[in-house]
Amino acid sequence: MARLIPLWTGRPLDDPTAIAEFLAPRGVAFARWEVGSEATALAAREALDDDARERLVALFRLELARLADAEGYPAADVVAVRAVPGVDEALARFDRVHFHDDDEVRAIVGGRGAFGFVGDDGRQFLLEVEAGDFISVPAGMWHWFYCDDERTITAIRLFRDSAGWTPHYRSTERGVPAVHG
Ligand SMILES: [Fe+2]
Repeated sequence: MARLIPLWTGRPLDDPTAIAEFLAPRGVAFARWEVGSEATALAAREALDDDARERLVALFRLELARLADAEGYPAADVVAVRAVPGVDEALARFDRVHFHDDDEVRAIVGGRGAFGFVGDDGRQFLLEVEAGDFISVPAGMWHWFYCDDERTITAIRLFRDSAGWTPHYRSTERGVPAVHG
């Protein structure tokens, strides 16, 4: 279950409704998705082949169709981060404060990670995510992302055009890492 930490208070919120209410006025959508046993098993695999990825997307077709209608995302695929050689270099693209030209939309189906955000008022907050957490970071919002030490997360991502994922950096500054506990 997600945990939200406003860095200016340090007091975490862990109720999904409270988290959604905190994030909505800041432009970030948050919801809980039901992750069934088949999706959980697929997301726990060490490697996901094309069939597994297709099946994972298919298991969430109702939620994805609803979002595609509401938000106009034409495509969905699966991203699987694993503790393999090169993972730290890949993750280092996203642990610096950045924004994208497209929304960053993720439904976490396995593993853990943390998003950090810079609000319009400059104050920063973290959202630790795990299976069942759905998040949409709007285009143009400063944010960053960390995996925890296990370097393992599996997510369905929705997008208009994968070119929209190119990060635009604010500086070389790294975001604050979350501490899972
Ligand atoms: Fe990002």
